[in-house]
Amino acid sequence: MKAAVYTEYGGPDVVRIKEIAPPEPGAGEVLIKVSHSTVTTADWRLRAAAFPGVLAVPGRLMFGLTRPRNPVLGSEFAGTVAALGAGVSAFAVGDAVFGFAPSGAHAEFLTHREDGAVLPLPDGVGAGEAVAVPFGGLSALVFLRDFANLQAGQNVLVVGASGGVGGYAVQVARLLGAEVTGVASGAREDMVRALGATGFVDYMTQDIAALHERFDVVFDTIGTMDFARARTLLKPKGVFVPLNFGLREVWQAFWSCFRGGQRVKIGVNEDRKPDLAVLRDWMAQGRLRAVVGARYALADIRDAHALVQGRHKQGAVVIDIAA
Ligand SMILES: NC(=O)c1ccc[n+]([C@@H]2O[C@H](COP(=O)([O-])OP(=O)(O)OC[C@H]3O[C@@H](n4cnc5c(N)ncnc54)[C@H](OP(=O)(O)O)[C@@H]3O)[C@@H](O)[C@H]2O)c1
Repeated sequence: MKAAVYTEYGGPDVVRIKEIAPPEPGAGEVLIKVSHSTVTTADWRLRAAAFPGVLAVPGRLMFGLTRPRNPVLGSEFAGTVAALGAGVSAFAVGDAVFGFAPSGAHAEFLTHREDGAVLPLPDGVGAGEAVAVPFGGLSALVFLRDFANLQAGQNVLVVGASGGVGGYAVQVARLLGAEVTGVASGAREDMVRALGATGFVDYMTQDIAALHERFDVVFDTIGTMDFARARTLLKPKGVFVPLNFGLREVWQAFWSCFRGGQRVKIGVNEDRKPDLAVLRDWMAQGRLRAVVGARYALADIRDAHALVQGRHKQGAVVIDIAA
């Protein structure tokens, strides 16, 4: 099968299209013929060994000390079930599915545990759209609902509101009943408001610190905010939730938990089927939509990596595997 393979850490050029042996489904696994995938920020971080904050050393230990342990990247996928491993009962050959895999989606075939984050496509949503939701949607859902404990009637500031996680954070916060102010460059204002933000800050021309509004939650998806800055924007019991964090935030999360008042909450989201089901239902109801900033053929996946690494993409960058 055709796959995008990397065998050394580096820039987009280390990724090459190669013929490799397709995987075989083991017990409890399905084989999926992948029609679409995406390049996420996680993919470029793994390709470049650009692990953020405290993950620099554990990242290399987990994913390969001097060279990548797993040569095929790609987590988001959509496609059809091509074969079933022993004991699989939740899926049938030919089912159209989407989901989130640990890796391996930048290829024509992928195996996935049937009890993992894989579900039938939502009614009325195509594979090229549904594929764009799991990475940003699952992060937004888990960070806002579980880590920030965002409640209906509260308000949230989403920093990086047009990005891979931010574009979904705006929508998920609205679906949880919160009011949203989005931060992005001015060119993205219409897009961020269309996703559901009622307030907007252009970080290129406006000083966020000058905002008069105080928030229950400040969700920084980019890493431009720290607790000292966030505190001036938070209500007395507000929560600062940074997607990327270092030792400083680990310490702040620890002591702010005992101190009372404003808090820092950190975490790493798992990719769970029940959470994917929440997103799938919202998509089927037309309440959550895919945010796709660009599309590339598999042959042009290096260009997709370069775009993602630039940190100014909108939503997800979709790869058409069959093209
Ligand atoms: N802890 C976890 O479990 C977890 C899970 C998922 C993701 N992550 C991490 O979360 C991060 C977010 O990923 P992502 O895919 O959302 O990133 P992304 O798509 O690359 O973010 C790009 C967005 O950031 C905006 N932006 C750039 N500079 C900005 C600034 N100074 N102020 C405000 N907005 C700015 C851009 O807006 P403009 O184009 O308008 O400039 C663009 O919309 C990554 O570092 C990823 O590794 C962590």
